[in-house]
Formats: sequence, structure tokens, C-alpha cells
Amino acid sequence: MAEVHVVAHPLVQHKLTLLRKKTTGTADFRRLLGELSALMAYEVTRDLPLREVAIETPVGPAFGQLIDGKKVAFIAVLRAGIGLLDGMLGVVPSARVGHVGLYRDEETLKPVEYYLRLPRDMRDRDAIVVDPMLATGNSAIAALDRVKAAKPRSLRFVCLVSCPEGLANLREHHPDVPIFTAAIDERLNERGYIVPGLGDAGDRYFGTKA
Ligand code: URA
Repeated sequence: MAEVHVVAHPLVQHKLTLLRKKTTGTADFRRLLGELSALMAYEVTRDLPLREVAIETPVGPAFGQLIDGKKVAFIAVLRAGIGLLDGMLGVVPSARVGHVGLYRDEETLKPVEYYLRLPRDMRDRDAIVVDPMLATGNSAIAALDRVKAAKPRSLRFVCLVSCPEGLANLREHHPDVPIFTAAIDERLNERGYIVPGLGDAGDRYFGTKA
């Protein structure tokens, strides 16, 4: 069973607390989400394989290390996953980006797919699926199903806020996928929202109201 990594770094916890506050407006929410996703990108890429290369510095020959293989693929679960891309691309600027469009049927809480576009050569890439909230886990499971079908070299899932129900569901369906989260909250409420969570991440990022 792959691990659940709770990123306890003080900067992550500090920014997450500010992000959660209901008085945090759209501009600050975007900025904080960007900063948090850069820090999460740093953690989720921690064990990417390296290869040794010979280089020339201005002073002479040296050996260095580069990330092995084709460029990393960040796969954003639409729509809220878009909010994590800028920050992650700030840390891994040459990453390729894919999108999985899923919306949550508010009655069944099940994901409905409306868009799928992945970078080519997924078999040679390390794929990182991103979505700020792991609530029921149904969207994450569906997104990982699609990405797994493209047989990436490796697969990881990153969120900011998760809950026991979503983690259990995701781990049951994708026990091989490591999960990176900044927090494991208390529970899901009857509307499928994480408690205490931060509300609707997409609405807060885009400045829309359901
Ligand atoms: N999606 C969100 O944006 N927030 C939640 O609490 C649950 C799902």
C-alpha cells in the first residue's frame, strides 16, 4: 500500500490556515493557493529519479544530476485543480499539463466526465494528478482511472485538504498511488463538503458563487 504523506512543513500549515479563513478574499486565496502548490510540488517531486550528467562549469568539468526521463506531467482535475497549476509550474516550469474534466453530480456525488486531454508519451512520464480537495474521493478515483489507463511511468496524487472518508475510498481503489496532502480534516458533511475544510475551492479561486 502506498503512503499518505501529510506535509507538516510550517510554511504549508501557516498558508493553509490563511487560505481556510472565510474572510480571505479571492485575490489572497489565489496567491496563497499558488504559494501552497509550489511547496506541495517540492514535496511530491522529492523522490523523482535522477540521472548523472557530465557538464562544463566556467571553471572546469563536473558531474551533476538531472531529473531522469521525459518531462513530468501535471494533470489537473477541472475545475479547482487549475488553481494548483501556476504554483507547480513555477517549480517545474517545463512540466507538461493535462486536464481531466469531471463535475460532481450534486445528488449522487458521483463524478461525470466531460473532458480528457493528456500529454503524449505518458508511458515515459511521471504523472502527478492535482486537485485541492479530496472529499468523497470519487473524482480523484475517476481521474486516476483515466490517467492510469495511459500507463504513466509513475503516478502520484496531490491535494491540500483531505478527510478520512476520501482517503479510505481513494486508497481502496488505488492502493498503489501515493497521496500528498497538507491536512486530514475531521469528516465530510451531508452535502459532501469537508469539515472544517475551506468551502468550495473552485468558487473561492475563480470568484464564483454556486
Ligand atoms: N470540493 C470543494 O471544493 N470543497 C469541499 O469541501 C469538497 C469538495
